[in-house]
Amino acid sequence: MSNTRRPLIVGNWKMNGLRAEAASLAGALAEKMKEQGATTFDMLLCPPATIIDAVGKAIAESGLSLGGQDCHANQTGAHTGDISASMLADLNCGYGIVGHSERRTDHDESDAVVKAKAEAALAAGLVAIVCVGETEEQRDAGNTMGVVAGQIAGSLPESASASNLVVAYEPVWAIGTGRTPVSAEVQEVHAMIRQKISELIGESDAAQVRLLYGGSVKPRNANELMSLADVDGALVGGACLNPDDFWAIAQSCP
Ligand code: PGA
Repeated sequence: MSNTRRPLIVGNWKMNGLRAEAASLAGALAEKMKEQGATTFDMLLCPPATIIDAVGKAIAESGLSLGGQDCHANQTGAHTGDISASMLADLNCGYGIVGHSERRTDHDESDAVVKAKAEAALAAGLVAIVCVGETEEQRDAGNTMGVVAGQIAGSLPESASASNLVVAYEPVWAIGTGRTPVSAEVQEVHAMIRQKISELIGESDAAQVRLLYGGSVKPRNANELMSLADVDGALVGGACLNPDDFWAIAQSCP
C-alpha cells in the first residue's frame, strides 16, 4: 500500500440483505465510523439494489460511501429488471461495481459489455470499480497474467482516470473458497495491472488508481494483503456481512 493512495475497503453484499440488515449491519458500521472519527481508509457499502436507499439512510453523516453491484450499459430504456448507473446516482451512490466474475459467469458478460457498463457508470458520475481475475483452469494452465492483461485491455473505459476508476483483482478460484494466492503472486499481478493501466491512461494517472484485491479477504489475512505495495484496499464478500470482521479488515490498512 502506498502512502499517496488512500485505501478503499468495499463490502459487496451480493444477493444478501433484507431491510433489517440495512439498519443492523450498515447501522453498526456507521456507528464504528462515527466513533473512530478520522479514518485512514475510505469504506464503501454495495448492498443489493432493493435496499440501497435504506442503507443510505442508515449511514447518513457517517462518512461511509454507497455503491451499486452492477449497472446496465444504457441509462434508460426497455431493459426489464435492469438498473442503470443514473438510477444508482439518483440513490446517492458514488460507485458502481462492474464486471464481477459472478456477472461475467452468470450473465455471460464479455469484456466489451463490462466496458460499456463502466462507460455508463462514468457518464452518470460514478466511480467504476472494474473487476478482473482468472479462473482456476486458466491459472493452472499458467495463463493468469495473459488473462488479466486481456481483461484490463478489454474492460477499461476510454475516459478512465485516477479519479473515476478503481480496479479489483479477484481470482475467481479465491472467491468464497477461503483460498488466496500467496502474497508475492498478488503483488506481481497488481504491478502488472498498474503497468497495463499506465499504457491505457498514462503513467501519472495509473500511479494514483486504486487497485483492490478481492477473494477470501478475512481479518486473518488482511494485514499481509494490505501491506503489499500495489494493493490499495479490498473488495470483500463473505466477511463484509459481519460488521466486526469487516471493520477488522479495514483496521488492517497501514
Ligand atoms: P469473498 O467474495 O470475500 O466472499 O471471497 C469477494 C467478492 O466476490 O467480491
